[in-house]
Order: sequence, then C-alpha cells, then structure tokens
Amino acid sequence: MSEATQKERPILIDGMGRKIVNLRISVTDRCNFRCTYCMPADNVEFMDRGELLSFEEITQVARVVSKMGIYRLRLTGGEPLLRKDLPTLVKMLDELEDIEDIALTTNAFFLTDQAAALRAAGLKRLNISLDALDKDKFTHVNRRDCLQQVLDGIAESRKVGFDSIKINAVAVKNFSEDEILKLVEMGREQDLEIRFIEFMPLDADQTWERDKVLFGHEILDIINQKYELVPIKDSLEIGPASEYSFSDGKGKIGIITAVSNPFCDYCNRIRMTADGKLRTCLFSTNEHNLKELIRAGATDSDIEQRIRAALVSKEPGHKINLDSFERPVRAMHAIGG
Ligand code: 5AD
Ligand code: SF4
Repeated sequence: MSEATQKERPILIDGMGRKIVNLRISVTDRCNFRCTYCMPADNVEFMDRGELLSFEEITQVARVVSKMGIYRLRLTGGEPLLRKDLPTLVKMLDELEDIEDIALTTNAFFLTDQAAALRAAGLKRLNISLDALDKDKFTHVNRRDCLQQVLDGIAESRKVGFDSIKINAVAVKNFSEDEILKLVEMGREQDLEIRFIEFMPLDADQTWERDKVLFGHEILDIINQKYELVPIKDSLEIGPASEYSFSDGKGKIGIITAVSNPFCDYCNRIRMTADGKLRTCLFSTNEHNLKELIRAGATDSDIEQRIRAALVSKEPGHKINLDSFERPVRAMHAIGG
C-alpha cells in the first residue's frame, strides 16, 4: 500500500453529487448462522460456486474502482470467512496501490482460527455482528448456539492486533431492549464501538414490519437512563452511524437509523454481490452485471465505463418510508451486509 493519503486522488461523483469512496464486496452468500433478520431457518438456495467471482475477478474490479476514486473496501457475505483462503484475497486487494483501507464484516465464528492470518494479510478493521449477550436470546436471534465462539473470536481479534473493532447489533422491538445496556457496557469495558442498527426490511422471511423496529431514539432513551451521551459532530458525513461519546470520556457508540432517519444523503458507497452484480443501493431493484462483462473479456476501461454509467442513476435514497417501497428480491445475505 502506498502513501495514497498524500496523493492526488480522483473524485468519483454519482448523479446526485455524492462522493463515492467505498466499495462493499460480498464474497459469498453462504452463512453458518441463520439470523432471523437476514436468512430463512432452512432450505436456503445458494448461488452455484461457478457463479461466484474468483479472487482475480474481484481484484480486477477493485483495481478499476481504485483508479476512479474509491479507496476503501469492505468484504462482506453471507459470512465472508466461509470463503476459502480469504486472507489470500485480502492480500491481493492490499497490494492495490490506491486502496487505503480494507475492512471485514463477519459473525466472528471463524475468527479464532483466522484472525491472525487476516491481520497478516493486511486487513485493517473488523465489524462483528453480535445482537445479544444473553445466551438464549443469542441462540434465538441467530438460530445457532454460538455466543461463546463469537466472544472468543472477538478476544482473539484483539490479541492479534485489531485495534478498531465495531460491533453491529440489529435492534428489534420487544427483543433488544434488555440487551442494549449490556452491549454498551461490554463496549466501554473492551473498547469496542457498539453500533445499533434499526431492523430493515431485508429479512428473507419477509416478516419485517415497522412495529418490529426498535428506533434510534428509543435506543438512546434506554442508554440515557444510565449514561450521558455527547453527540460527535458530523459523524454522518463519514459513515452511516450517528456517533456519541460518553460524557465520562470512556468509549463511544453509534446508531444507524436506517429506517427512521436514513443517511442516504451522505451515502458514499456501492456494493458488489458475490456473483458480480453491482448494486448502487442496498435497496436497489436493478443490478449491473459486471460478471458477464468480465467473463466476456472486458478491459479495465470497459468495466470503468459500466460503473460510471451505473453511478449516474444511483438511487437518491431508499423508500422504506413511502407507499411505493418495493423490497429487493435478494435478502441481506445475498446482497452483502
Ligand atoms: N436489518 C438491519 N441490519 C441487518 N443486517 C443483516 N440483516 C439486517 C436487517 N434486516 C446486518 C447485520 C450484520 C450485517 C451483515 O448486516 O447486523 O452485521
Ligand atoms: Fe449470516 Fe450475517 Fe446473515 Fe447472520 S446477518 S445470517 S451472520 S450473513
């Protein structure tokens, strides 16, 4: 990785004038968990392996976007650590001179085995999904009895040197309330940023209803009963979370009000599914088939043109709050979290 911070970087702008700096790359739609807000309990239809972009194909897309102004990558899934030899991909991406930051979103189950190799390969940051610290609640929401493995995975990541670890907790009404302060306290003790995410209509079971969302202001009310929070200025301009520090200076949290107050105006990201479809929004109802282009022998310049064309029509925002809302056909695990 070069000193890209000092370099003049091209600026990539979408049709709405937003600066796009981040590509989220899904490497598989498979997962060893079956979180209720994401996957069905059973009978999941997964992509054929031949449909998945190879590491070389992923790296080609990453190289193209890195020349266009994107300098941050995040690997997602499904569960990305199910993809064989993921550290090899991390290293290939880390060798791209214009990429400054590579992060990973994971359920942490395989981190005890893989954290060291991922770190050595150049991975910088981790986001770990953890919705409940109560063992039964964990097992209920994730449909797997794996709380201890996740906690071990977090501990191992710390041990091998990951200093920026965020925890993603999906906030569901009548379920998450009792977990909020427990997670907050774990975050303060272990220097983890806990980020509460409003439950979005991306669950494969399609049971989402507005009444099932624990809203950001409700989460803040719960935390405020015990702690005084201080908003961190302009955090929404950097990422999707409204961030708060604690008035005693110990730790910080984030709230992603994806439903009640979406960050779409500041959206700086695009996504690529494991089967090589570019999505300009989490909630896109159409996709741009990069895989077809790549497998037909496209040059970097062909891919660049396709991406630029797609960006012109990047959605201004999602429509969860409008009558015209249409759920994407893919559930979260097949889009990439
Ligand atoms: N709503 C909100 N967040 C979700 N995630 C998965 N499904 C949903 C949903 N329906 C988040 C999880 C995980 C990441 C991959 O996506 O928190 O950390
Ligand atoms: Fe797997 Fe993540 Fe979906 Fe849970 S949220 S089922 S861990 S992909």
